[in-house]
Amino acid sequence: MVPSSLYNLSSVIGLDVGSNLLHGSLPPGIGLTLPNLERLYFGDNQFIGPIPVSLANASKLLYIDLGLNNFSGPVPMTLGRLQDLYWLNLQINQLDGDLSFITSLANCSGLQTLSLYNNQLSGMLPDSIANFSTQFQGLYLAKNKIFGTIPAGIVNLANLRLLSIEMNLLTGIIPVNFGNLQKLEAVGLNSNKLSGQIPSSIGNLTRLFKLVIDGNDLKGSIPSSLGNCQNLQELYLSENNLDGTIPEEILTIPSITKLLLDKNSLTGSLPLNVDKLEALWQFDVSNNKLSGEIPSTLGSCTKLEFLHMGGNFFRGSIPPSFSVLKGLQELDLSRNNLSGQIPKFLERLLFLQYLNLSFNNFQATCFWWRKKTGKNLAPTSSLGNGFLEVGYAELLKATDGFLSNNLIGVGSYGSVYKGFLNGIGTTVAIKVLNLEHQRASKSFLAECEVLRSIRHRNIVKILTVCSSIDFRGNDFKALVFEYMPNGSLDMWLHPNETEQHQFRNLSLIERLNVAIDVACALDYLHHHCEKPVVHCDLKPGNILLDADMVAHVGDFGLARIIHKDAINYSQTPSSSLVVKGSIGYVPPEYGTSGDPSTYGDVYSYGILLLEMLIGKRPIDDIFKDNLSLHQYAKMMLPERVVEIIDHRLLIGGIHEITAQSENNEKMSNNMQDCLISMVRIGVSCSAESPKERMEMKDVIAELQRVKDFFLAVGQQVGN
Ligand SMILES: *[C@@H]1O[C@H](CO)[C@@H](O)[C@H](O)[C@H]1NC(C)=O
Ligand SMILES: *[C@@H]1O[C@H](CO)[C@@H](O)[C@H](O)[C@H]1NC(C)=O
Ligand SMILES: *[C@@H]1O[C@H](CO)[C@@H](O)[C@H](O)[C@H]1NC(C)=O
Ligand SMILES: *[C@@H]1O[C@H](CO)[C@@H](O)[C@H](O)[C@H]1NC(C)=O
Ligand SMILES: *[C@@H]1O[C@H](CO)[C@@H](O)[C@H](O)[C@H]1NC(C)=O
Ligand SMILES: *[C@@H]1O[C@H](CO)[C@@H](O)[C@H](O)[C@H]1NC(C)=O
Repeated sequence: MVPSSLYNLSSVIGLDVGSNLLHGSLPPGIGLTLPNLERLYFGDNQFIGPIPVSLANASKLLYIDLGLNNFSGPVPMTLGRLQDLYWLNLQINQLDGDLSFITSLANCSGLQTLSLYNNQLSGMLPDSIANFSTQFQGLYLAKNKIFGTIPAGIVNLANLRLLSIEMNLLTGIIPVNFGNLQKLEAVGLNSNKLSGQIPSSIGNLTRLFKLVIDGNDLKGSIPSSLGNCQNLQELYLSENNLDGTIPEEILTIPSITKLLLDKNSLTGSLPLNVDKLEALWQFDVSNNKLSGEIPSTLGSCTKLEFLHMGGNFFRGSIPPSFSVLKGLQELDLSRNNLSGQIPKFLERLLFLQYLNLSFNNFQATCFWWRKKTGKNLAPTSSLGNGFLEVGYAELLKATDGFLSNNLIGVGSYGSVYKGFLNGIGTTVAIKVLNLEHQRASKSFLAECEVLRSIRHRNIVKILTVCSSIDFRGNDFKALVFEYMPNGSLDMWLHPNETEQHQFRNLSLIERLNVAIDVACALDYLHHHCEKPVVHCDLKPGNILLDADMVAHVGDFGLARIIHKDAINYSQTPSSSLVVKGSIGYVPPEYGTSGDPSTYGDVYSYGILLLEMLIGKRPIDDIFKDNLSLHQYAKMMLPERVVEIIDHRLLIGGIHEITAQSENNEKMSNNMQDCLISMVRIGVSCSAESPKERMEMKDVIAELQRVKDFFLAVGQQVGN
């Protein structure tokens, strides 16, 4: 509970206890005891009870955030007295009652954003919304029980950028002059009971990038004026009663990525000019009454990953141009009148996960997909996606039949073999996925998806992939990497007894170099890729060393590409069941509900750095009873750091130094400074709170500074 004395700090202007595990209710007199309050942030906690009416007495309030709690009861009518109110967020609570308080909010002349998303509010949306401030920009009312029509006056809100009233019980039409809302960027009206036609004035919304009106009862044809919305990225018109043909105009919007028109009664054939849709990623026209041939121009939409055209009257064959749709993951052409042979190129679509050709007139082809077994060795071919594909037989030969002598690593998703690949004339590491493991296929796809788009000196290079069938007819998937003769960092840090002669002690400068290499790889993944990539499984076993001891980050089987929406207005819950890394290296927030984030990688990096300096794994026996590697290191900072440093480092280090210098006391003091700086970085990266962790670019700069200092001193003393 928040101590009640906090509510008596009458001079307080900002009170932020957001994103904690606080509970209890707000005191009824909060607005009287905190008369100077401007910002109240209580969001993302477990508060219950009503929203106090007295809030309206804190007349300077600008921001109110009570979202993501369990507040209940009605929204006080008095909030309209807050003349300066700018931002009111009550989303994701249990608020009920009707929407009459909205009328009072028309008095808040500076109101910019109102979110009541995901509550139990019912009643009609009052006409008075037309009198909202002209500053008003964002209205979020989705996921309530609002009924009645959309007030015609809503079109007065000249600065409205975001309208989200989906998942309610709204009836009636979309206002005819909806196009007056010239500033609109995203519209969600889906999953209501709206009827009538889509107003053609929508074509005037040239800033629109997301229009979601699926799951209503809309009739008539798709207005061709939509083609004027040249910034549209996502158009959802599914599950209505739309008829007529698909206007050519909407197929000329170059920015469109998702075009969903399924479950309507659209007729005619698909326009031929679909080749303008360069960004198209998901296209669904299934369950309509479309006819004619599938335009071969669809093959120009090379970004397509989901193509659903089932349940129509398409005839003819699958266009050969589909062979270039290398990213296809789902292709559904079922329930049409397609004929001809099933094209062979489908077998080369590496990412295809779902293929449905059922209920057509395709002719039998004799198990073409089995032909990729060893005896019928397809020549190595370029897939155009940056990978060269390799056959099963070739890998079998490269590894002497996956001989155990060639086994260089075993992980949960598969085994890694060393082999010589004739095709490229070099020694390689072949990671064979254990497809009996449920996640192995996913991990294969994740790794392919990430690795095909990244290149960096400190990231293992993928040479080729194999997605095939073994001699027994079972699926076989493998990834082929450049071979790293010096094995993993784990082997160097923790050699077992038989390996000790093989892996000499790594000197401080070598460890520092590895730390910088890994930091560079992470900085690249987080900030310099097209979309940020989170590795999710950084640990010494996944850091590989080449012949020159340069470190390369490997194993992207758990990696995630972060797709950021411009406006994240429909939150999708994250799955807490997803595997997110290895024990000891997983940041604390992943244990609760945190999605994989770049901060998480920074945490793992911090642990890795401490492990490299202290020589103990985070899961070592001494780290239990609430003492973690992080706390252990933090506790010893700064004077006692030397007591916990990997003793091999001190012996090696001091020995190296005394060999070249008499001034070893000065030197070991300098070395101690370096170690303290590095442990500090490790501790800071592995801070409990994600936001306190360092940025990788700062880590690189700091480590580089330590290295320069270390080398400069070495030079000086050596001379
Ligand atoms: C608080 O606001 C209410 C109206 O909402 C008003 O009647 C009351 O007088 C105010 N109290 C004080 C102490 O200003
Ligand atoms: C809004 O303002 C009008 C006139 O300025 C006033 O009559 C009305 O009581 C105000 N409503 C609220 C809830 O403050
Ligand atoms: C909007 O405000 C005007 C003037 O303040 C008023 O006459 C009108 O009734 C209000 N409209 C609604 C729908 O509340
Ligand atoms: C679009 O806006 C223009 C004025 O900006 C107007 O003349 C035209 O009628 C509008 N179009 C539609 C379809 O509403
Ligand atoms: C399907 O195609 C065949 C020829 O391939 C044709 O005879 C038949 O009439 C077509 N059926 C429909 C429903 O279009
Ligand atoms: C393939 O499509 C048909 C018809 O649309 C459907 O009945 C069937 O369930 C689909 N098959 C799979 C495996 O999803």
